[in-house]
Amino acid sequence: MKADVILIQHPLVQHKLTLMRQATTHTQDFRRLLKEISMLLAYEVTRDLPLKYETIQTPIAAMEAPVLATEKNMVIVSIMRAGQGLLDGMLELIPTAKVGHIGLYREPTTLTAVEYYLKLPHDTEYRNMLVVDPMLATGNSAVAAVDRLKEAKPLSIKFVCLLAAPEGIQYFHDQHPDIPIYTAAIDQRLDDHGYIIPGLGDAGDRLYGTK
Ligand code: URA
Repeated sequence: MKADVILIQHPLVQHKLTLMRQATTHTQDFRRLLKEISMLLAYEVTRDLPLKYETIQTPIAAMEAPVLATEKNMVIVSIMRAGQGLLDGMLELIPTAKVGHIGLYREPTTLTAVEYYLKLPHDTEYRNMLVVDPMLATGNSAVAAVDRLKEAKPLSIKFVCLLAAPEGIQYFHDQHPDIPIYTAAIDQRLDDHGYIIPGLGDAGDRLYGTK
């Protein structure tokens, strides 16, 4: 089985992503744009959520109205630290979601992912999981995160990012062919330091102004 890559080409997403890529875009705007894009990504990623019907009363009449069948069973897991930027916008749109965090840092010489933190809701096995990280670069962090999160046996997992490198998609697919990847763009390649070209730089640094 080969996993899906769902490219989110909505014009608003593409426009905002271009603004984020620009080196002249400062932290405040970068953060706001990431939040706005996250809401649009959340809209696309939740497109297949099932609905159920409930009887409600409008001021005029009773009706059978659609509501989310799974409203209370989402968990969004942020891969720290840049995942926080995607998480914030998604929570605006899915306020009932529970939140998990996984902390991974890139070991600078080998670029492998080292876990330093994990906190998940206790009932993850009853939840559909969105794993969020703006950059799918080497894929090491994404693969390590999903390896670990699968141990919590969620109902489903989707991986959501902003930018992906072909190398990262390939590696992720090889390791997790059952998990779809949602991304707003697939860039050219990685440089020798594992940065996406042309990319947008270090997402965490740009989000938090740490460089
Ligand atoms: N992480 C980033 O923040 N940027 C990249 O280009 C690659 C990994």
